[in-house]
Amino acid sequence: MRDASAKGEAIERDRTVAVVGTGTMGQGIAQVALVAGHPVRLHDSAPGRAAEAVAAITARLDRLVEKGRLDAAAREDAVGRLHAAEDLAELDDAALVVEAIVEDLAVKQRLFADLEEVVGDDALLATNTSSLSVTAIAGGLRLPGRFVGLHFFNPAPLLPLVEVVRGFATDETAATRAYETVLAWGKTPVRCADTPGFIVNRIARPFYAEAFRVYEEGHADPATIDAALRESGGFRMGPFELTDLIGQDVNEAVTRSVWESFFQDQKFTPSLAQRRLVESRRLGRKTGHGWFPYGEGAERPEP
Ligand code: NAI
Repeated sequence: MRDASAKGEAIERDRTVAVVGTGTMGQGIAQVALVAGHPVRLHDSAPGRAAEAVAAITARLDRLVEKGRLDAAAREDAVGRLHAAEDLAELDDAALVVEAIVEDLAVKQRLFADLEEVVGDDALLATNTSSLSVTAIAGGLRLPGRFVGLHFFNPAPLLPLVEVVRGFATDETAATRAYETVLAWGKTPVRCADTPGFIVNRIARPFYAEAFRVYEEGHADPATIDAALRESGGFRMGPFELTDLIGQDVNEAVTRSVWESFFQDQKFTPSLAQRRLVESRRLGRKTGHGWFPYGEGAERPEP
């Protein structure tokens, strides 16, 4: 074990992976580590939520068995390796801890300070933050060299890309170990630096913003812009339907964060029309109305 950690090789399958924060992303990441063969321990600060996550992941594995994508023996084996930890102290033997809690710098810093008291010095610590600085989260750590960003995309079990983010203090061994581990989990890791939005969220910002501005300036309507990008641009979804799926509030929050982090650089300026959607709770599919209407009887406008 110590040899592998010294060389930056993937974390061995028999070593525990802990996931802290068992909401949307935490559950997905836990499922990935579990299917890869690790013992997985889940912790959430909300009482009972880690146990609920165990039940939700088990139900998802059951559906994979029904669909013939997982065999029953593999499901049994995986469920036997999955445990809820009501107390943070139960994560003491984790070789890797992936944090997927609320997107709040102070709360994340406090969690990692507590985790350092619990895990061994050779444990890798990772954050799934999408908009905060990895360097800043690691700021108060005793051993910041073992801290990385592991930015999964939603839904984590399905989407292959993982950005492996190196903070200013991250050492090469930790970055390589994180990269090799993600690769061994069947994902597609890419290394990137700790800059706002990393690679994907940064490049996506001007894409969304420019599409919204073309609409705001009256050059084309949302359905037409979506159709143009889908049918001629080769995108699976246009920017309007995609942000309705993500949630206008979630999408706008990431844009604001990247814009502010780049000292309000104009190319990341948030959209006024999107602001109006958020203010009026037209958040997309989840509220039944965003750029487009959803639900029974809803008619999508023609391009
Ligand atoms: P979520 O709201 O679904 O889940 C967060 C969970 O963390 C909740 O169960 C909450 O009880 C728990 N929690 C909050 N504070 C805690 C603490 N101090 N200790 C332990 N547990 C705590 O959030 P979601 O969407 O899963 O996001 C989690 C992280 O992943 C955030 O940093 C977010 O930016 C990032 N992310 C989210 C993506 C998404 O599409 N939702 C995509 C990629 C990254």
